[in-house]
Amino acid sequence: MKSMTKPILQALAGEVPSRTPIWLMRQAGRYLPEYRELRTKARDFLNFCYTPEMATEATLQPIRRFGFDAAIIFSDILVIPDALGQPVRFEPGIGPKLEALTGRAGIDALTPGRAAEFLAPVYEALRQTRAALPDETALIGFAGAPWTLAAYMIEGSGSRDYQTARKFALMQPEAFETLIGILEDAIAAHLIRQIDAGAEVVQLFDSWAGALPAYGVSRWSLGPIGRIADAVKAAHPQARVIAFPRGADSFLTQFAAHPSIDAVSLGQAIPPSRLAEVRQAGATPQGNLDPVALIAGGAILDAEIDGILAAGAGGAHVFNLGHGITPETPIAHVEQLVARVRGAR
Ligand code: CP3
Repeated sequence: MKSMTKPILQALAGEVPSRTPIWLMRQAGRYLPEYRELRTKARDFLNFCYTPEMATEATLQPIRRFGFDAAIIFSDILVIPDALGQPVRFEPGIGPKLEALTGRAGIDALTPGRAAEFLAPVYEALRQTRAALPDETALIGFAGAPWTLAAYMIEGSGSRDYQTARKFALMQPEAFETLIGILEDAIAAHLIRQIDAGAEVVQLFDSWAGALPAYGVSRWSLGPIGRIADAVKAAHPQARVIAFPRGADSFLTQFAAHPSIDAVSLGQAIPPSRLAEVRQAGATPQGNLDPVALIAGGAILDAEIDGILAAGAGGAHVFNLGHGITPETPIAHVEQLVARVRGAR
């Protein structure tokens, strides 16, 4: 089948593709002058995300420039709380702001029933992107995982250690489990609708999994992510699921062993030698170049790339960063990275 010749889909199926596929988390963004130009035309960041023509254009920009093996739809993990009736604002230079959930009442006031309609522009952007992408480029949809979204919803913003959210989980356990359940259902439905609209792969970002205590990882990260992946596979057996439990480094093989998780994305703190461990546990490793090495460039960048390629050689591997690309990353270094990964096989 034609779609199976896309290198990233081969790698996510556990096969060794003709070349190591590469894409980068946050590959559309402020390091690109064409993104900064487009961004000036939107009232605010979420309005940008909810305008299908703009989201499509931002998604395609890094594909045109670098020819990555996958496009990730231009959106944000925080569209889910926004769709659930907890409005999100992005304050320039500060980050996301929400009115914090403090207990049961705020959770009961959430509006899961209107999420599908609210998020319709995201699905429209996926349809437009799908139609415009080259044949060899896969389309990735995504969502935040329940714990990371719950953490933003309870804290009302980003946080250093998410103590307010962790206290909420332990001190208001019923309300917290209700919130996680609402998010699980909303996220699964959002991912399934993204696949309906043309995504072939979905990634779950649990960006703050590393803030959880060990007992919390299985209950609030792996458990919900596994159930969401099961729901996605039940609706779309051929879709591929990538989990990114950032910082939950002791649990990688447990994520990899889950039957509905096809790939595990690794942060830059994980030694490349552990790529093989993920593979043996049953998933394709994705990662895990240090985004700071990409800023540094030169021989340091080449050495880091080569180490990761060597660790990934001989089996399925998707090349990526250990976390999102930063705004100060020179474009020439991204070109250097793509050329080196492409030249390696
Ligand atoms: O990867 C891509 O190119 C697709 C788009 C994408 C964005 N955010 C666009 C974005 C994706 C996949 C995300 C995921 C996301 N968003 C995560 C998980 C990944 C991670 O980094 O751990 C998180 C935690 C968020 C929440 C979020 N969105 C924050 C904290 C911020 C503000 C940070 C900042 O640098 O201002 C955003 C805003 C955001 N999301 C931007 C982009 C391109 C920058 C906003 C702008 O252009 O004004």
